[in-house]
Amino acid sequence: MNRTILPLALLMLALGGAVIALSQRPWAPRSDVVQPIPFSHRIHAGVNKIPCQYCHAYASRSSEPGIPAVARCVGCHGNGIAGSGIAAVTRPWTDNTPEAFEIQWNRVYTLPDFVRFTHRPHIHAGIECQSCHGPVQTMDRVVPVHEINMGFCVDCHTEKKATLDCVGCHH
Ligand code: HEC
Ligand code: HEC
Ligand code: HEC
Ligand code: HEC
Ligand code: HEC
Repeated sequence: MNRTILPLALLMLALGGAVIALSQRPWAPRSDVVQPIPFSHRIHAGVNKIPCQYCHAYASRSSEPGIPAVARCVGCHGNGIAGSGIAAVTRPWTDNTPEAFEIQWNRVYTLPDFVRFTHRPHIHAGIECQSCHGPVQTMDRVVPVHEINMGFCVDCHTEKKATLDCVGCHH
């Protein structure tokens, strides 16, 4: 191959790769996430009306709502709780082996590191979980409803007169 074309071709290839990588926006919420246990928000938050913050207890206090520990599931599903009326549904927490374990849930929502986002000010301002996450209480599997991009944040911030400063949302 011609000596000047080879580096040029490599450069084009690298640029193409970078453009594809960015256009796929690796931080966009994923709609194909499969969980290790088919946990259903419809059954818990919908049919049985368990409040979101009973399980995501840190939403109003901390930057991340947190995914409940297995201990929280066992509180309702464990064998030891008499009269809870809820059948023990799935191994392994009905298993009596004392080994500690945690379920490795897969993430649906992520943001890139250059964005500053915390739940607390939103919960305190009375923004409902559903404004950003959609009607989770109807979902057997969490799937994103809104495209979480800068436009989505800025539209609501404009409407609610919240910060529009670049450094408000970016490090
Ligand atoms: C009984 C406990 C429980 C209740 C109640 C509950 N959740 Fe969850 N939530 C979980 C668990 C466990 C996961 C991780 C598995 C999954 O994604 O389904 C999760 C995951 C999520 C996720 C996805 C997080 C991510 O990025 O991976 C969102 C969003 C969410 N919950 C919102 C809500 C909202 C909104 C409500 C109320 C309408 C709610 N949850 C009620 C236990 C609960
Ligand atoms: C506040 C009580 C409560 C908590 C906490 C709770 N559950 Fe449940 N769960 C229920 C109830 C009520 C049902 C419905 C039982 C029924 O209909 O027989 C249920 C049903 C289920 C089912 C069966 C769903 C189906 O298809 O029938 C699974 C699996 C399950 N829960 C997993 C979990 C996991 C995992 C956690 C912890 C992240 C958890 N639960 C936390 C109350 C709870
Ligand atoms: C203003 C929009 C917005 C609102 C309101 C909101 N969330 Fe989120 N949530 C997000 C974004 C964006 C992420 C991804 C954050 C990240 O990756 O840093 C997220 C992530 C999550 C996660 C996964 C993070 C973790 O802690 O593991 C859960 C669970 C969750 N939200 C639950 C809730 C619940 C429950 C409510 C209501 C009490 C709520 N969210 C309200 C935008 C929102
Ligand atoms: C549905 C409306 C809504 C959406 C969507 C939303 N926000 Fe907000 N945001 C608010 C409100 C309301 C406040 C609180 C303003 C106040 O307390 O004065 C706020 C506050 C904040 C703050 C704190 C600002 C400060 O001055 O302390 C940050 C940072 C922030 N939002 C980032 C984001 C990011 C990043 C996104 C997108 C991922 C987002 N928000 C999406 C409504 C929203
Ligand atoms: C209310 C929150 C918010 C404000 C204010 C905000 N941004 Fe963003 N910005 C985001 C979020 C969230 C993302 C990442 C999601 C996405 O891809 O759009 C982002 C992404 C970006 C990106 C990367 C875009 C891409 O697609 O790769 C740039 C560049 C950027 N912002 C610049 C700015 C500048 C400059 C300002 C001030 C004029 C600003 N932002 C104000 C929330 C905000």
